[in-house]
Amino acid sequence: MSDARNPVKAFFNKPIRPSASSPISRYTHAQIASLIPDDVQERAIAVDLGCNDGRYTSILAERFEIVYGLDFAQAAMRRMPKQRNIRLIAVDLNTIPQHMWLSLKVDFALAVGLFEMLPNPDRLCRVLEEWIVPRGRLLVVMPKPGTLHLRALRAMFALRAAATGFEQPPLYHNGHSLATVTPMLASCRLDLAEAGACVGVPASVFSRLPRLIQALAIRFDQSREKSGSGCYEFGLYIRQ
Ligand SMILES: C[S@@+](CC[C@H](N)C(=O)[O-])C[C@H]1O[C@@H](n2cnc3c(N)ncnc32)[C@H](O)[C@@H]1O
Repeated sequence: MSDARNPVKAFFNKPIRPSASSPISRYTHAQIASLIPDDVQERAIAVDLGCNDGRYTSILAERFEIVYGLDFAQAAMRRMPKQRNIRLIAVDLNTIPQHMWLSLKVDFALAVGLFEMLPNPDRLCRVLEEWIVPRGRLLVVMPKPGTLHLRALRAMFALRAAATGFEQPPLYHNGHSLATVTPMLASCRLDLAEAGACVGVPASVFSRLPRLIQALAIRFDQSREKSGSGCYEFGLYIRQ
């Protein structure tokens, strides 16, 4: 589907906004990156689902022999710094064609900010059952429903959609959270091994504030116990 007919794709194909390099955004990125396992066996293979311009793909490329980056935002993927062990595949993860179901075998799959955007996340779960090898792992990170972070993020996207004349908001949200995705994954032999939350301060709000305030917010965030109360929730799943 072309960008003109798919506002989500068009949105993610646009170059990153300045707020994405703010201290809070970098802090958020580092917090999420710290969840990626580093106990990786030799020659292990990973896939980054919804890789965009490769913020996490490049981290995976340091630890895994080969990393596949999958996304439908091809312009964003082209901005990814080239690395010899990264292979990019342009695909709609909501409608992965049947011939791809058996074409990948990976030890680790990463999905940051993806599951909540897919109209049919259950289909991706079924594909992951095929792609992830037994004892392989999946890390899912999603913005937590009901948080100020997600409400502000969605309000900003709605405003931007109105300003740019999109007929529908550029970000689809399927209403799913870790609590609803976990049973879907369990029915595809991906069992929850660990869950938690990260980044306590509402990142989407603070990334627009002066840098000094962001620095204070980060220090405050680091000093508190965040389990159960973060902007993002994560689940680490093991393939049976
Ligand atoms: C919130 S961004 C997260 C990007 C990256 N994981 C990160 O955290 O930096 C979601 C990504 O998923 C991609 N995406 C959303 N729906 C998709 C679909 N149906 N098929 C493929 N990619 C999709 C978007 O293009 C975007 O790059």
